[in-house]
Amino acid sequence: MKKIFLDHAATTPTDLRVVEAMLPYFSDSFGNPSSIHSLGLETRTAVAEAREKVAGLIGAAGDEVIFTSGGTEADNLAVKGIAQASAQRGKHIVTTRIEHHAVEESCRYLEKQGFKVTHVAVDQDGLVDPREVERAVTPETILISVMHANNEVGTIQPIAEISRVARSRGIYFHTDAVQTVGHIPAKVDDLGVDLLAISAHKLYGPKGVGVLYVRKGTRIVPFMHGGGQERGLRATTENVPGIVGFGKAAEIAQAEMDAESRHVTRLRDKLIKGLLERIPQVRLNGHPTKRLPNNVNISIASVEGESLAVSLDLEGIAVSTGSACSAEAMEPSHVLTAMGVPVELARGSVRFSLGKKNTDEEIDRVLEAFPRIVSRLRAVSPLWTGKA
Ligand SMILES: Cc1ncc(COP(=O)(O)O)c(C=O)c1O
Repeated sequence: MKKIFLDHAATTPTDLRVVEAMLPYFSDSFGNPSSIHSLGLETRTAVAEAREKVAGLIGAAGDEVIFTSGGTEADNLAVKGIAQASAQRGKHIVTTRIEHHAVEESCRYLEKQGFKVTHVAVDQDGLVDPREVERAVTPETILISVMHANNEVGTIQPIAEISRVARSRGIYFHTDAVQTVGHIPAKVDDLGVDLLAISAHKLYGPKGVGVLYVRKGTRIVPFMHGGGQERGLRATTENVPGIVGFGKAAEIAQAEMDAESRHVTRLRDKLIKGLLERIPQVRLNGHPTKRLPNNVNISIASVEGESLAVSLDLEGIAVSTGSACSAEAMEPSHVLTAMGVPVELARGSVRFSLGKKNTDEEIDRVLEAFPRIVSRLRAVSPLWTGKA
């Protein structure tokens, strides 16, 4: 049975053109980019070219692009790096209740170091109101961090409007754009951001490589000290194959983004319509229109998300759930909770995230399998009354 992968928000398969571009840099062109000799020059040039390609995708200059080990490190470097560099000016950070753990946990860490963090609420669609951000700002605020689009429910935030709040107060603005870069337009000047995090493996690049965009003139303190690579902001010998792969993935995304977006949007809308028609008591989570082209997040009354995901997996369909298992309890997602989704519904949530290789036939198979699985699980659920 051919597997159907609908979990592209978790990771994407590396594009074979990316793999091909990376291969020479493992054992033929293996020099250390800091070396004086020609093997060093070769990889130094390859890294510089990749940097330009990633910069091009987000409309930045090459020297504003810092390669990291992934989105998590980029978020950590942005949040902690600004906090440390600006602590003299103030110790207050504004963020939201729906950020990825990479931002959320960095803020939590800073709270232990004496910083104050305000978490702005979101509405029932997961949208941040720029006026709420403005209200949260104090004279002590040094950083605003709001994600470009949410990884669970796909809601796209009004980043350009929020950046105007930051800019008018002289506050640094960071966005986690891990779910958007390569999929929807995300140019740093249009967004008005000072810092922006990207991860290669979410745009058909390799795992273990990311980027933090740092606008010229933005002062951040690094947490890696060593050889001075990446303009002194991220010491360690560069992950050359990974960086070359990221560059290739960025180049492909730039050329193919529009076509991919049209394709996945059409499949997304077909999936949403089909699920809402075929299953009673189902709710679409996230904004109806301001959402990622590939995201479908639904809550199903009276069933557990985990049971749905496991049943789908048995039929060769890979999806994610909106809750995280812990030893004692199923914790509902903090994002759905922040949006006011009742706990019982949040527990029954499933995320389908589509990719460029998905087909109409695959969506048809999901639309046949999923309602059947829901009916079977509801038939044995003590919570299911069958009433709308
Ligand atoms: C919104 C968001 N930020 C950050 C990350 C972390 O990226 P990485 O896996 O490259 O560390 C992810 C990955 O799931 C994400 O979805």
